[in-house]
Amino acid sequence: MKKITALLVSLLFTHAIHAQDHTDLYGIKVDSLISLMTLEEKIGQLNMLTGNWEATGPVLNDSNKAEKLKKGEVGSMLNVKGSTNTHELQSLALTSRLGIPVLFGQDVVHGYKTIFPIPLAQAASFDPAAIRSAARVSAREAAVSGIHWVFSPMLDVSRDPRWGWVMEGPGEDPFLASVIARAMTEGYQEPFGDGLSVMACAKHFAAYSGAIGGRDYNTVDISLQTLHNLYLPPFKVAAQSGIASFMTSFNEINGIPATAHPYIYDLLYNQWNFNGMVVSDWGAIREMVMHGYSKDRKQAARQAIQTGITIDMESNCYSNYLKELVEEGSVREETIDKAVKQVLLQKFRLGLFDSPYKYGNELKEKEELLSPSHRETARDVVRRSIILLKNEANLLPVTHTPRNIAVIGPLAYSKRDMDGNWVSLSNESVAVTLLEALKERYPQSNILFAEGYPATGEDRSGFNQAIEIARNADLAIVTLGETWNMTGEARSKGDINLPEVQQQLASAIYQANPNTITLLMAGRPTIFTQISEEMPAILYCWWLGTEASHAITDVITGTYNPSARVPMSFPAHLGQIPVYYNHKNTGRPPVESEKNYSGRYMDITHKPRYPFGFGLSYTEFTYTAIQTGLKKDRLTLSLDLSNTGNYDGTELVQVYINKVWGASTRPVKELKAFERVFLKKGETRRVDLEIPFSEMIYYENDGWGDEKGDYKLFIGRSSSDILFETSFSIE
Ligand code: GLC
Repeated sequence: MKKITALLVSLLFTHAIHAQDHTDLYGIKVDSLISLMTLEEKIGQLNMLTGNWEATGPVLNDSNKAEKLKKGEVGSMLNVKGSTNTHELQSLALTSRLGIPVLFGQDVVHGYKTIFPIPLAQAASFDPAAIRSAARVSAREAAVSGIHWVFSPMLDVSRDPRWGWVMEGPGEDPFLASVIARAMTEGYQEPFGDGLSVMACAKHFAAYSGAIGGRDYNTVDISLQTLHNLYLPPFKVAAQSGIASFMTSFNEINGIPATAHPYIYDLLYNQWNFNGMVVSDWGAIREMVMHGYSKDRKQAARQAIQTGITIDMESNCYSNYLKELVEEGSVREETIDKAVKQVLLQKFRLGLFDSPYKYGNELKEKEELLSPSHRETARDVVRRSIILLKNEANLLPVTHTPRNIAVIGPLAYSKRDMDGNWVSLSNESVAVTLLEALKERYPQSNILFAEGYPATGEDRSGFNQAIEIARNADLAIVTLGETWNMTGEARSKGDINLPEVQQQLASAIYQANPNTITLLMAGRPTIFTQISEEMPAILYCWWLGTEASHAITDVITGTYNPSARVPMSFPAHLGQIPVYYNHKNTGRPPVESEKNYSGRYMDITHKPRYPFGFGLSYTEFTYTAIQTGLKKDRLTLSLDLSNTGNYDGTELVQVYINKVWGASTRPVKELKAFERVFLKKGETRRVDLEIPFSEMIYYENDGWGDEKGDYKLFIGRSSSDILFETSFSIE
């Protein structure tokens, strides 16, 4: 039977190729194949199961998964890694009646084996080229390991650092998020199908980060304006960038679970002309019953497939109910076919029918994984992601060689914590620790280490030893922050203050030695009031991955002058949350001095500790000869940027607008252009930027407005450090 079928299929294809134009070659092949498939086989293509990955090999805990693969009942899998393991499972899928290859997906979100900075840290780089290079390396390493599809970029614009997912996101600004969406999509996918690129996945669609209280999976209740102006822009850009897939989000939006929300899928398929697959998040179809939206899993299956959810990840709703739904007439087989076509189209595009083992090659794995060039790329991305928050008394950079260096804190020797959360091969961290990097950098120096405080808990018994080595050192380096599992999915925190024990130790170290550098490592913006007020030099080091420590050392020594900026406001106080730069003006804006009748807090400041776009440098920059102009369809501006300090460095020129009045109130500032400019010390360069009028539009009360109106324009070093302001109007 198999041979006849294969012959029939190839005949159909041969006929098709001669009969049709190449451009719809896949469409023809897909239609031909579908015409041979049973309803069960079609439904199998819409079913995604986890591989229950084990470090030593693919343990299919539920043994009948192997049987399901052989019967063509599994169209894609996740959590299966390595060419040996993926090939083994692929061989099972190829024994099915039609031999349709299986897709392997994986959460490669900031690197596969070479781990890059968490996406929020990459957002801090404001460097699309660097972000693209990280995705490019991640795609290569995943592809040679048998992965066809990465569940990245996560594009959830977020304003609430209590929400653990912020680590994987693009920060608080929709414009920056859109730049990142394009950069990561292109980095992962291009050139498509060459065996070293993978399908990308825009997630979580949509408004997942709007969870009330910053609690993961919580209810999202927002206006259409907020949906369109804050959450959707990066998803639209991802769709327009040709991303191969989207993933649903667990939350509801205004009473309807996003996994079956007709409004956002009408936008995706009909307004944005998306031509890809949508995979549910893990079990999200089943969870529509828990939401109180679907009567039962059968109804959930119908609602999801009719909304346009292509693949059911790990809820078995499609595999259990779609056949029945079609046979009883509740779901048309054409609806199933439409989803199956998308899955088969991607498999053709990837080249899996011609060469099912194209992805995953042990030799290439040895060449690609952690290659020197990948590590160098990672080191470069890390350098660009570190934010200099404070540098009093020019403690940084350390240009001399300290004889005695005291290194304090458990994060200084932890490999696993350097990688952060959501890493593909988490149990095999090869990150360079800070201690290792410092010993490499200062081979002649005497480097002493003391833990000082426990990674968790309040024990202070380590204080004295830490203080002692600090007191006797020329330089003290204190590492503080979060271990790798304190931020991420289901890691929402009500209190994002750094633990008291850490802040007290830092203070004691500083009392013992004023030459103290503070390195903060975390997956989210945290609050560290005492540290930010008392410590003289502070670098925010996020979770930076394999090359974290080499790059941190590059920044400490001035080999690299820090250039990153705050991608998501750091609150000064828990009570401010959510605090963000692109807020509305209101009728009574907060004025700290106005005791009555202003929008201030009585007891805390309303200003963030570190605002969006903030970041220091070892050098200074001046902006002169600023000119703006209006062309037919865009605003232009140019300026002379000078590096007037003592170090080469990179400045992030930021351009914000505010539409002064209109049918809908607008944020006091909206980032609409930015440019990283590297200048040698003493150098001046003319910088030209522009903002297309199309970037000015805004979703108002009853739909999209136009760009006409009166505006203010701001050029700044951050959203609150404005160097130039002017007004303009678009008729
Ligand atoms: C998780 C996450 C999602 C991830 C998926 C597969 O629950 O929500 O981001 O891609 O399941 O691991």
